[in-house]
Amino acid sequence: MTRKLRLGAFMRPISIHTAAWRYPGANPAANFDLEAIVGYARTLERGRFDAFFMADHLAVLNMPMEALKRSATVTSFEPFTLLSALAMVTERLGLIATASTTYNEPFHVARRFASLDHISKGRAGWNLVTSGNPHEAMNFGRDEHVEHATRYQRAREFYDVVTGLWDSFADDAFLRDVENGVFFDPDRLHVLNHAGEHLKVRGPLNIARPVQGWPVVVQAGASEAGRQLAAETAEVVFGSANNLADGQRFYADVKGRMKAIGRDPDHLKILP
Ligand SMILES: Cc1cc2nc3c(=O)[nH]c(=O)nc-3n(C[C@H](O)[C@H](O)[C@H](O)COP(=O)(O)O)c2cc1C
Repeated sequence: MTRKLRLGAFMRPISIHTAAWRYPGANPAANFDLEAIVGYARTLERGRFDAFFMADHLAVLNMPMEALKRSATVTSFEPFTLLSALAMVTERLGLIATASTTYNEPFHVARRFASLDHISKGRAGWNLVTSGNPHEAMNFGRDEHVEHATRYQRAREFYDVVTGLWDSFADDAFLRDVENGVFFDPDRLHVLNHAGEHLKVRGPLNIARPVQGWPVVVQAGASEAGRQLAAETAEVVFGSANNLADGQRFYADVKGRMKAIGRDPDHLKILP
């Protein structure tokens, strides 16, 4: 049997390690050195990596200042701006952006990923997070973080809205019939009309259906609610277990949850 090795690079935008900028030969200014990041992306592509994964937070990390002042992860490009630029200089590398379901509106998220998927010709992925960093709340008109259970309830509904918006135009909706002056077929347009507990979105999305249909959905939840959301929505899951036994338990748990709701567990990749 041939086994396929999948490789993803965890970038933020250059590394997740807090002190990587001090490594001998590192470029300490690389966070905003676009040419350097382009070089890294091209190296990853040459090395047959499947994806450039961009973690993101909507605030500086909530660390004590003594630790924060030593960390290059304090700053980062906004993911869609950077990944759109990288899409133009790579051909096969998957481009995964993190987007919060707590401090975003689904219409914004749906159209950003749809755009990135068109720009990259079908290479976009969405790391769906509920915002681990409580300080994000303070950048969005709130004094306190939204509570964990509420974040995950909103995230589940948010996923339905985003994927529903991606389906707004059928793949064959655009007739572009120059002679008769008909650009698209209204019968091939779906208006979402979503009204749920947390979200109200009429739709349709004003972007053609993404190249992949739906961009790849990635998740890294670890709690009960996080694993359930992963089982219901994700195609790729990040595990963060510290030893093999915990990793195997996590793997069996998420795959078991998928079976329980009738999703095919073989359609999920779990990365250690
Ligand atoms: C590999 C990995 C990457 C993550 N990247 C982000 C990120 O970019 N932004 C973020 O807000 N949370 C990120 N998280 C946090 C998770 O989304 C999640 O909140 C965390 O694992 C705790 O699980 P819980 O939300 O189910 O309690 C990441 C977690 C892991 C393990």
